[in-house]
Amino acid sequence: MSTADEVPAFARDVVAGVLISAAEIQNKVAEIGAEIAKDYDGLDPIIVSVLKGSAPLIADLLRVIPIPVTIDFIAISSYGPETRTTGVVRLLKDLDVSIEGRHVLVMEDIIDTGLTLNYILRTLRARQPASLAVGTLFNKPVRRLVDIPLKYRGFDLPDRFVVGYGLDYQEKYRNLPFLCVLKPEITGA
Ligand code: PRP
Repeated sequence: MSTADEVPAFARDVVAGVLISAAEIQNKVAEIGAEIAKDYDGLDPIIVSVLKGSAPLIADLLRVIPIPVTIDFIAISSYGPETRTTGVVRLLKDLDVSIEGRHVLVMEDIIDTGLTLNYILRTLRARQPASLAVGTLFNKPVRRLVDIPLKYRGFDLPDRFVVGYGLDYQEKYRNLPFLCVLKPEITGA
């Protein structure tokens, strides 16, 4: 762990420790970027980022993909109490570009239950893309309720509340450059 992974003062009250360092994340992003560039060379893919958590990932990932790509963003509502089990979520911001006949790669920061991605994939598949694939930097397999085939997968995580590198607790701590575990007393876990 280098000084780049020192938890800043504003987060010390809630963060128990660093789970994945900034360097480990950047190395993994570079690996995934290289794979994407190889797999999609000549295909002019559309990379879809799901707001807001995947903003840091998409920003870093784009810069390590040395082939032509289009990016676009989608935003969906968080689950209400009753939608958590049904997987019905609301589209807050749709894509700007048409994906019909295009190669589409949805990149997520984290997949937990899989319900969000399940909804997004169903919505996008109906638009008849040439291909539709999913990648995630962080993955919580033990929490999965719906199977999501993953073309790119960064790190499998334990079932702990994590923040940083896009992931929030009450909309804060997305700006930490590494992935941290919250103190159990903060979330009541
Ligand atoms: C997170 C994450 C995924 C979703 C994964 O987003 O970015 O979109 O949760 O959870 P699931 O697999 O259980 O559906 P969140 O709803 O927290 O919104 P945010 O990205 O704006 O923080």
